[in-house]
This record gives sequence, C-alpha cells and structure tokens, in this order.
Amino acid sequence: MIETRRPAYMDGKPKGLLIDGQSVPALSGATFQSFSPSTGELVAELALADAQDVDRAVRAARAAFDGPWSRFKPAERQAVLLRLAELVDAECDDLALLDCIEMGRPITAARGLRGMLQRSLRHFAGAATSLHGQTLSNSFPVDLLSYTLREPIGVVGAIIPWNGPLFSAAWKVGPVLATGCTIVLKPAEDASLSPLRFAELCLEAGVPPGVVNVVTGAGATGAAIAEHPDVDKIAFTGSCETGQRIIAASAGSVKRVTMELGGKSPNIIFADADLDLATPAAAMGVFNNSGQVCAAGTRLFVQRPVYDEMIERIAAFTAGLKIGPSLDPETVIGPLVSAKQFARVSSYLDLGPQEGARLVAGGARVTGEGFDKGHWVAPTIFADVRDDMRIAREEIFGPVSCIMPFDDFDEVIGRANATRFGLAGGVWTRDIGKAMNAVRRIRAGSIWVNHYFAMDPSVPFGGYKMSGFGREGGSEHVEAYLQTKGVWIRS
Ligand code: NAI
Ligand code: MG
Repeated sequence: MIETRRPAYMDGKPKGLLIDGQSVPALSGATFQSFSPSTGELVAELALADAQDVDRAVRAARAAFDGPWSRFKPAERQAVLLRLAELVDAECDDLALLDCIEMGRPITAARGLRGMLQRSLRHFAGAATSLHGQTLSNSFPVDLLSYTLREPIGVVGAIIPWNGPLFSAAWKVGPVLATGCTIVLKPAEDASLSPLRFAELCLEAGVPPGVVNVVTGAGATGAAIAEHPDVDKIAFTGSCETGQRIIAASAGSVKRVTMELGGKSPNIIFADADLDLATPAAAMGVFNNSGQVCAAGTRLFVQRPVYDEMIERIAAFTAGLKIGPSLDPETVIGPLVSAKQFARVSSYLDLGPQEGARLVAGGARVTGEGFDKGHWVAPTIFADVRDDMRIAREEIFGPVSCIMPFDDFDEVIGRANATRFGLAGGVWTRDIGKAMNAVRRIRAGSIWVNHYFAMDPSVPFGGYKMSGFGREGGSEHVEAYLQTKGVWIRS
C-alpha cells in the first residue's frame, strides 16, 4: 500500500538555517523551493544562505569549538552519539520518508538504510573513546620523552550531494562529534530536509548549540564555505568537477580537504562465475537508487563465452523490476532527483545509439498513468559498448548499464583501469587465484568479489585517481578529522 503518512517535520512552514542551535532565516531573507521528483509538488521552502550566513555559521562553529564543546570528555561525546543513535532510530521511518519524498529514493530502500545508520552512529560513538597518540623513541642527545597528541582539526565545512542525504549527513557529522570538531553542513539544494532534521536531533541528543550548523542553498552557498578563511577542513562528496573547484577555493587558507567524487566503476564477470549470483548484482549494481550512486558498476565487462547469455539474463531480470512512485513499498526504480538530472541522463540515452551502442532495454522516459509529472527513466541496457564511447567514459548518474565483451584476463584489467576514475570495482569468478589477482590489479578504492555494494562503517571507502582522496569508513575516516601534535618533554 502506498505510504500516505507525512513526517511531522513536513509541516509546510518555511525551513530556516540551523545556526548556533537556532532556526533562523537567511539575513537577506532569500528562500528557495524544493520539489518532489515524483509529482512535481512543492515539498518545502528553505532559507537560501549566502556568504554572510555562512560567515555567521562559521563564527558559531568556531565559538562552540573553543567553548563548552572543547571540555566534553570523550565519554561525554560518546554518550551524545549513543543518544543520537537512539533518536535517529526512533524517527528512522520518518527520516527515510523525507528522503523518499524530497529526492525520490524508493521507500523500502530508504528504510533499508536503518541498520547501516545505526551501525555507523554506534561506530563513531566507539571511536570517541578510542582516540590515541603514540609514544615514540628518539635519538636526540639529551633525554627527552616524545609523544603525539591527536587533536580535533577544528571547524569542518561539509558539502554533500542529494543521492543519499541522510546517510551522507550522518557520515559527515559522526566523525565531527567523535573527535570534538564542529561543523557547517551544506546539504544539496534538492535534498535538505533529512540533513536539517538530523541536525535538530543532534541538539536533542545533547550536542551544544553551534557544534552542528546547517546552511541550505545551492552551489554558491557551498563555494562560500570552501572560500571561508576560518574553515579548517572541507569534507566533500559530489561530482569531480565541483570537487576540483572546491580544492582550488580551499587553497587560499590551506584547508585540509577530503574528496569523495564520482566513478565509472568496472564490474567484471568471468565465464566461470556463478551467473545466478552475478545477474541480479550486475543489474542492481547500476540500477540501485536509479543509478544515482557514486560506486555504481556502470561498465559491465562480460567474458565472451557467457556474453550473450548474460545480456539475456540481465535483461530478463531488469524487465521484472517494479518502476513506480517512491512512496510505493514495492517500487524498486523510482524517479531521478530533478528535471536537471533527467535532462542530463536523457542526453546520454540519445547519445548511446548515436555512438553505435546496441539498445537492449529501456532507453527512454517512462510514460503512462502516474508517470506524467515525474522524472522516471527506464532502466537502460546498452550492449556492444566500446571503451572510447562517451557513455563508457563519463559518469551518467542514471540507470544506464554499459555491457562490453572481453576475451582474457590481462585485456580486461587493462580496460577496467583505462579511466580517470577509481572508486570501486567488482569481480565475479569461482577461481580464488584469479579473483585475488584482479583485486590487486584494479586501481580503485573498493573491490567486491562475488558481491557488489557492501558497505560498513568499519571498512574504508573512497577513491583512487580522480575519484578523490581520503577515506570514509574504517579508522582513516575519523583520523581525517584529527591533526597530530608532536610533543617533547625533558625528563
Ligand atoms: P555537484 O557535485 O555540483 O553537487 C554536490 C554538492 O556540491 C551540492 O551540495 C552542491 O550544492 C554543491 N556545490 C555545487 N557547486 C559548488 C561549488 N562551486 N562550491 C561548493 N559546493 C558546490 O553535483 P550536481 O550538480 O548535483 O550533479 C551533477 C552530476 O554530478 C551528476 O550527474 C553526477 O554525475 C555527479 N554527482 C556525483 C555524485 C557522487 O556521489 N559521485 C553525487 C552528486 C552528483
Ligand atoms: Mg527535489
């Protein structure tokens, strides 16, 4: 049954910026609107932050960093994170509903993130009491004890995309709270509600005002954060092009920067693979979240002996995927986030056949009753794709799979690596030696063998090459919010 309930947070009132624990309008009074990608309806009116508002938020974050928050003991930060985990869990259905309504993630998938959110917040809670430096032997002629202190970096500017708003907010705020940093978070203009509500829950959990601030707005708001001289670190997730702009803007005050950017990840199916296992993963490795996933396995390499069979299998599986409104619990393929994204993806649907790819499934907007007001693209399969086609090289960020045949191991590894990206990769084979060899040779930050998409807060995720630098998940995630002080004491 279609979900008809609406979260209490969607009360129709304009949403302010969250600065120093208060919901406030933009100083200019400017607002913007966010629309449902399923129905085109207005979802919310939001304050549009400009550079003055960003400055106000950064000042609040700085004051909180220097103020009471700096005196919170690790166990107190841990307690706050554990309370936050409880509050988020209690409201998880509604938080998922916000993402579902505002950016179109199907409700079952959105609610499916509950476990991952809990594991993440509890992981960061654990990290809060596990921070430690080292004592180091030295050979200085005078007896001196040397050790390191691990200290919070300071004010973090976090800029996140729209494809996983709640999850992205949690993975930016979590390490901030674990380490004692403070944050100015900028959600994407198409998906602000769940990050805003998540930040309110931080306050309810006992995070002091000013530690977690949210400024809503578009690219210019993000740029103001990247340029602000009193922001110590930028944590960015989004497109490669915007990441490059942020790196350039952050140079002025030599900010620490971590970048989780896009990908064009290879998913390689060898002829000896378990094809029953590989088929749904090959499809959902691209079609999950309507293809709006940074690690999507969009270049599907299939070894020649099973090439035709796999195309048929994947096409048959794809034909069974329920396309529908995000609020229908049976929907697997929801709409794309916005008209802008729809236009972008559609341009690649036109380009594929022009470049000589063979259209096997999809290839167009979904039409008919219930689909006229939204931005659905049918899950699309192009076969016989060549490496030099733009559809095989550029991040489409829509439900578009490019299937390509290959003959032997060295050839496919070379082709898999012939990209400026390096976020992830998949390998399907029953031969453990072949799998381990492929794992070593694929230049990407995450490799899945006989699986696709597993993620956990304990396991690092991030890019090689132009897919970025820095890791989220794993010990490196929290490390990136700390800096090291070397200390010498005469004994
Ligand atoms: P984007 O990378 O421009 O947006 C991500 C975030 O950056 C948003 O919060 C946006 O407001 C902000 N932003 C934009 N310009 C900025 C600037 N100059 N300085 C600071 N912040 C800025 O991505 P967009 O325009 O939403 O999507 C375009 C394409 O980017 C997609 O089609 C997709 O290919 C890619 N993308 C990749 C993502 C990933 O996770 N790999 C996530 C989102 C988009
Ligand atoms: Mg929207």
